[in-house]
Amino acid sequence: MTQAPSPLDKVAAKAKYGPWAVIAGGSDGTGEHFARELAAMGINLLLSSRREEVLRALGEELKAAHGIEYRIHVQDLMDEDAGTRLLAAADDLDVGLYVSNAGAGVDASGTAFLDSPVERWHRLANMNVRTVMDTCHGFGLKMRARGSGGLLIMCSMSAMLGIPYIATYSSTKSFEAVFCEALWGELRPHNVDVLAVLAPAMDTPNFRATTEETGFLISPDMCFAPDQVVRDALDWLPHGPLLLYPQQPGGEDMRPIMAERKARLEAVAALGESFSEPVAS
Ligand SMILES: NC(=O)c1ccc[n+]([C@@H]2O[C@H](COP(=O)([O-])OP(=O)(O)OC[C@H]3O[C@@H](n4cnc5c(N)ncnc54)[C@H](OP(=O)(O)O)[C@@H]3O)[C@@H](O)[C@H]2O)c1
Repeated sequence: MTQAPSPLDKVAAKAKYGPWAVIAGGSDGTGEHFARELAAMGINLLLSSRREEVLRALGEELKAAHGIEYRIHVQDLMDEDAGTRLLAAADDLDVGLYVSNAGAGVDASGTAFLDSPVERWHRLANMNVRTVMDTCHGFGLKMRARGSGGLLIMCSMSAMLGIPYIATYSSTKSFEAVFCEALWGELRPHNVDVLAVLAPAMDTPNFRATTEETGFLISPDMCFAPDQVVRDALDWLPHGPLLLYPQQPGGEDMRPIMAERKARLEAVAALGESFSEPVAS
């Protein structure tokens, strides 16, 4: 149903997306699964999140299992300068893949928009908009210069609908989806792949914590397996810009909808390219 046109060729993937990948939010949930999949391909990892000991344990485990190098970078991705600091931490590395994984989970939900201080939403927007922009700008510049790479943004199905009680989350996810579509158009002539994964409900530690804390009820058979979503995401990376999921496992085949949206995007791409022509003075 979400099967990619062809499975990712692991050897070609290492050449294109290695030698280093950076995962923002790389300690658990889908971030951990990305780390495991990429390490198994022999790609070195810079893992960033708030919990140093979890990052270190994962890095050590993957180094022992696959002989990769790893680096950790501990910080809160909601800080205003988080993107700049992450770029600085990777400055001496040849980064072929950037995965923006952290999405906030429990920090993103639980009250109506008006019932939390607006500063809470500013911090969520920092992570899902500002940090995403800063990192895609910095890593994107280097990938364009080297003529290969990938930007993979873990987005959400909630990007397609303004959802009450997660207003800032769903609207910042919507930014990520549209941003990726545009970047995909700009970077494809440079052999840099861009994909936003409009992820479905997945049974991750953060999802469990969120459902417990907010009382949000969802039956387990509505949830997708996070390791499978990560494998889908890597298979789809060369075929961006969006990977959509049905409401539940076994649901509607989303590929016709993805193809239709991509065709519309390709139709407007030529118009966009005309904007980028230098203006004659
Ligand atoms: N799970 C779902 O059902 C679901 C559904 C739709 C979309 N998504 C999207 O899928 C992605 C992954 O989701 P997830 O369920 O695995 O949970 P998540 O909380 O979005 O991501 C977990 C990872 O992000 C890190 N993280 C979270 N907040 C952070 C912060 N403020 N600063 C630094 N790192 C932070 C966590 O590490 P530390 O705790 O160590 O900082 C962990 O490594 C997200 O983009 C999410 O929006 C998830």
